[in-house]
Amino acid sequence: MEFFKSFFAAIIISFFLFHANATNVTHDGRSLIIDGVHRVLISGSIHYPRSTAQMWPDLIRKAKEGGLDTIETYVFWNAHEPIRRQYDFSANLDLIRFIKTIQDEGLYAVLRIGPYVCAEWNYGGFPVWLHNLPGVSFRTKNDVFMNEMQNFTTLIVDMIKNENLFASQGGPIILAQIENEFGNVMGPYGAGGKEYIQWCSNMAESLGVGVPWIMCQQQDAPKPMINTCNGFYCDEFKPNNPSSPKMWTENWTGWFKSWGGADPYRTAEDLAYSVARFYQKGGTFQNYYMYHGGTNFGRTSGGPYITTTYDYNAPLDEYGNPNQPKWGHLKQLHEVLHSMEYTLTHGDVTNTDLGNSVSTTVYSTKEKSSCFLSNAHNQTDAVVKFGGIDYYVPAWSVSILPDCKDEAYNTAKVYAQTSVLVKKPNKAEDEPNSLEWVWRPENIEKMAVQGKGDHHANRIIDQKAMANDASDYLWYMTRVELPEDDPIVAGKATLRVTDSGHVLHAYVNGEYIGSQWAQYGSQKYVFEKEVKLNPGKNLISLLSATVGLQNYGPMFDLNVTGVLSPVELVAHKGNGKVVKDLSSHKWSYKVGLDGVANKLYETDCPSKLKWSADSLPVDRNMTWYKTTFKAPLGNAPVVVDLLGLGKGHAWVNGHSLGRYWPSYIADEHTCQTAACDYRGAYSDKKCASKCGEPTQRWYHVPRSFLKDGENTLVLFEEFGGNPSGVQFQTVEIGTACVNAHEGKKVELSCHNRPISRINFASFGDPQGVCGSFKKTECESTEDAVSILEKECVGKESCSFEISEDKFGKAYCAIKRLAVEAVC
Ligand code: GAL
Repeated sequence: MEFFKSFFAAIIISFFLFHANATNVTHDGRSLIIDGVHRVLISGSIHYPRSTAQMWPDLIRKAKEGGLDTIETYVFWNAHEPIRRQYDFSANLDLIRFIKTIQDEGLYAVLRIGPYVCAEWNYGGFPVWLHNLPGVSFRTKNDVFMNEMQNFTTLIVDMIKNENLFASQGGPIILAQIENEFGNVMGPYGAGGKEYIQWCSNMAESLGVGVPWIMCQQQDAPKPMINTCNGFYCDEFKPNNPSSPKMWTENWTGWFKSWGGADPYRTAEDLAYSVARFYQKGGTFQNYYMYHGGTNFGRTSGGPYITTTYDYNAPLDEYGNPNQPKWGHLKQLHEVLHSMEYTLTHGDVTNTDLGNSVSTTVYSTKEKSSCFLSNAHNQTDAVVKFGGIDYYVPAWSVSILPDCKDEAYNTAKVYAQTSVLVKKPNKAEDEPNSLEWVWRPENIEKMAVQGKGDHHANRIIDQKAMANDASDYLWYMTRVELPEDDPIVAGKATLRVTDSGHVLHAYVNGEYIGSQWAQYGSQKYVFEKEVKLNPGKNLISLLSATVGLQNYGPMFDLNVTGVLSPVELVAHKGNGKVVKDLSSHKWSYKVGLDGVANKLYETDCPSKLKWSADSLPVDRNMTWYKTTFKAPLGNAPVVVDLLGLGKGHAWVNGHSLGRYWPSYIADEHTCQTAACDYRGAYSDKKCASKCGEPTQRWYHVPRSFLKDGENTLVLFEEFGGNPSGVQFQTVEIGTACVNAHEGKKVELSCHNRPISRINFASFGDPQGVCGSFKKTECESTEDAVSILEKECVGKESCSFEISEDKFGKAYCAIKRLAVEAVC
């Protein structure tokens, strides 16, 4: 008996020892509760494969400094399991290292396993081999699919458990997500879809992660799954289950970009407004999607037609720089919200509607009260009488009064600095324009001239099925035998190809006849070109290039990619037409580029293929270019300016920078012509700009891709372009501006570089915006420029309070300071 007692005591003690650091994550209908504390949590999405492992500590530190408690990430199935049962968790796919980096910074993590993730990621994160498994049917009650999904989900959960990374094990992960927004597209899946969601829930639960599971945009989420909201605003959202707290997994901080589309922009004022409204209306967890968007390296971008940059206009830009004033304006909001955590999660709530879209919310506990005054009108400012005091609340804004008296924050009043980032030439090169190039042609002879492929079929096959995502490129080749008197030979004829909307290059008898690609917003086109065919044998070779596989929509996985049926030869005879459909001819297929098979992109290219330094071709399609360069000095982020090139793929020292396409100009119709006004509901097109410019001209070259001494850039140019203008540059902060009222404490910072000059400073009633400030008659007695020169120049940052004590008397009703500092 004694033995059993001590045996059980030992087990109990070791249980507690082992779980001594365990974090207990629960919730009630109002809050997430962590170790007994009811929380107001601010989170941000950072996707590990969209940056490099070397960038993670800095990104996460900046997220923490920006006031985040939590980092949210998806898990990218197709990146981790590119070939069935062959896994990759190396370099920027090192999920465990990423989670540990979050832990090292003392932040929590939210793991959105999916494993369908959408995310503007190739095929939404599904591996293409999954599509090619016999009998599979995605996102429904289908054994083949469910087996694979469970296999991958279990693998991830086990990996995480082995490293004790769930909060229940003392790790940072407080929430896990299964599926993604299935509720948005569920209708067409019928009963199978409903059963599938129930299965997802049971499967997830069976994994015993010890933290709550969430499902986003899933109004019928089965208990105990917590249904969460995604959108630009989620203040009106209510989870389906009364014991689920109100959580917002994706607050879109801007939007993604598509080839041919404008540059998205969501104002700091509107983003802060959406967050403040959410907590005014009882939210407990809010996540910025994205907090850092980053880069779609390799062939990871989804689509079709998602750009290589995934900047997203997020609080941290593509390279990791604070996107100011957004980053700083939100940081101040987070401080205020965190200071009210107790009242927000415990207080009695009183909402009062004052009419004209103005409302107040009071959270009160015995000890303290906190208040929100909000004006949801999109044009009319309001003066709100509250507790006997008049508060000025601009249109489309929320004022936060942590003590119900003093306004600590208003979402429309931005005091954080505005940073203007500039591109600087590469000082490590003697002459930045002097990159010297060698080149060689892509070998297309076999396909365009000989029509030789590796696979054959008497039909046109979906590019996904044939290429299995091994490459963007697939050759479709067929022969046509034509008698001399065939109207196609005798008269005028055209080749007509229906395409699923990616890029097509057509060759007839070895000769290039033309290319086509989708216009912005359309997904299908018909290529039609006049051709001269010979009596006897003719060869038609079509090279299709995908630009990211579709990632969203009901049954998006089934969309056929590449060349579609029919492929036709059309003879024009008088007013009539003779059409020959080639779709059921014998077709040969060849996947990929010859240059890639020969690893031309590698620094020490192993193949014997020669590069030529002579007569560098310009505007020649299917061409490889190579140059060497020195890494820019310092540690500012590096980009390569590819203006002058058409479309293709770029590598530095063998690392893929992703697809490039600077010749794709942002469509005039995708920009907003009216001035950008933060007031009123945001949508992805609102405030978008940069039409008429290349959709993406600069491409991120992470510092960790570079080495001392000689570096190599390799380009595969598909359309034809001119590489002579290509330049490496650094992205640095050029100027920093502040424009704030008397009484505010502000900061000016050049982000790790010294402030070199004060270009403008005026305390009084200065007008204009950063870059074009102007003084007015009302100005203080002291010289603001020389005061700030003393205070700031030579330092990396300076902070001070705006007051008459500091800047001298100014005789205007409302006093402001405007400063422009040069970095
Ligand atoms: C959501 C989706 C995300 C992302 C976002 C748009 O619908 O859940 O993965 O695609 O839209 O950026």
